[in-house]
Amino acid sequence: MQHYKIAAIPADGIGPEVIAAGLQALEALERREGTFKLDVTMFDWGSDHYKKHGVMMPADGPDRLKGFDAIFFGAVGAPDVPDHITLWGLRLPICQGFDQYANVRPTKVLPGIASPLAGVGPGDLDWVIVRENSEGEYSGIGGRAHRGHPEEVGTEVAIFTRTGVTRIMRYAFKLAQSRPRKLLTVVTKSNAQRHGMVMWDEIAAEVAQEFPDVTWDKMLVDAMTARMTLKPRSLDTIVATNLHADILSDLAGALAGSLGVAPTANIDPERRYPSMFEPIHGSAFDITGKGIANPVATFWTAAQMLAHLGEAAAAARLMQAVEAVTGAGILTPDVGGKATTQEVTDVVCEAIRRSNI
Ligand SMILES: NC(=O)c1ccc[n+]([C@@H]2O[C@H](COP(=O)([O-])OP(=O)(O)OC[C@H]3O[C@@H](n4cnc5c(N)ncnc54)[C@H](O)[C@@H]3O)[C@@H](O)[C@H]2O)c1
Repeated sequence: MQHYKIAAIPADGIGPEVIAAGLQALEALERREGTFKLDVTMFDWGSDHYKKHGVMMPADGPDRLKGFDAIFFGAVGAPDVPDHITLWGLRLPICQGFDQYANVRPTKVLPGIASPLAGVGPGDLDWVIVRENSEGEYSGIGGRAHRGHPEEVGTEVAIFTRTGVTRIMRYAFKLAQSRPRKLLTVVTKSNAQRHGMVMWDEIAAEVAQEFPDVTWDKMLVDAMTARMTLKPRSLDTIVATNLHADILSDLAGALAGSLGVAPTANIDPERRYPSMFEPIHGSAFDITGKGIANPVATFWTAAQMLAHLGEAAAAARLMQAVEAVTGAGILTPDVGGKATTQEVTDVVCEAIRRSNI
């Protein structure tokens, strides 16, 4: 029996609701497979912790996470705590501290879920966005001067390093190579940003030489939004900077039907540290506590976690169960249904129990 140590950080808003759903599905899988066991430790870090103790997590938080095999994360953000405090107090220190430089964001139109794009169904929109997750526009470099005075200045410096760009390009080309279409689009903004982004393009072209069987093209980020909307079939694997991919993946989630179905994996490809798995969405204040949060993004990221741990069969079983349930029209309100989080979770668990792959 294989044992995995999982750190669960549900955090804020609908985070606890979707993580509870995800854990229920993972328990059903454990029982169905009978070959692995997840030892889950819950951490109560987040905005409530901040309100009580003045910090989102204890100072030794990252040290306490180091010994786990993976981190299963909900969402951060509270209406009464500034967003930069919640994000920089919990999620970003984990991603950056553990050098989870590859942020992998698959999106596809699932059976039974309607894309807002006319005539686009399952198979027509099936992408993986690879987001550079360690530097770029979210390097944290910058500052404020003359605070509160009319001449106040704020700077936000985007950092692109040869090491950082090369490793994310290599990861993206390799991922594109592993998918049937072997197709990669490199998103850039090198027309207006003529230093870091030009280097980004040059390194993409260099790394492309290592992958002659991958067809690749380059797209300015503004034009990319139009291509995603108008020609979704022309895309497969996409690589973009921290900021660009952050924005494009919300668009991707919306085009696939809802932010509630889009997962993300923050991966340390070298496996020096635990990787972190979470839904793309935030804490969704508008639906918190109503019991209607869509758990599909969390199920999907749980499948990413299992695949990362080496449990490919369990990951496939989970996704098959999710697709059977969405295909049967058992959906939460954000994707046009009437089911609650719990109802969707229960039928997914039942589908796992009954599945025969
Ligand atoms: N990774 C993260 O933890 C993360 C990501 C994005 C935003 N945030 C934070 O979350 C807070 C709210 O941000 P926001 O409103 O911009 O984004 P959000 O993702 O929380 O919500 C955007 C919209 O999508 C809907 N939605 C999101 N997830 C859903 C789900 N599972 N099921 C059904 N509907 C869902 C919400 O109801 C809302 O209408 C902010 O504090 C923000 O900083 C955190």
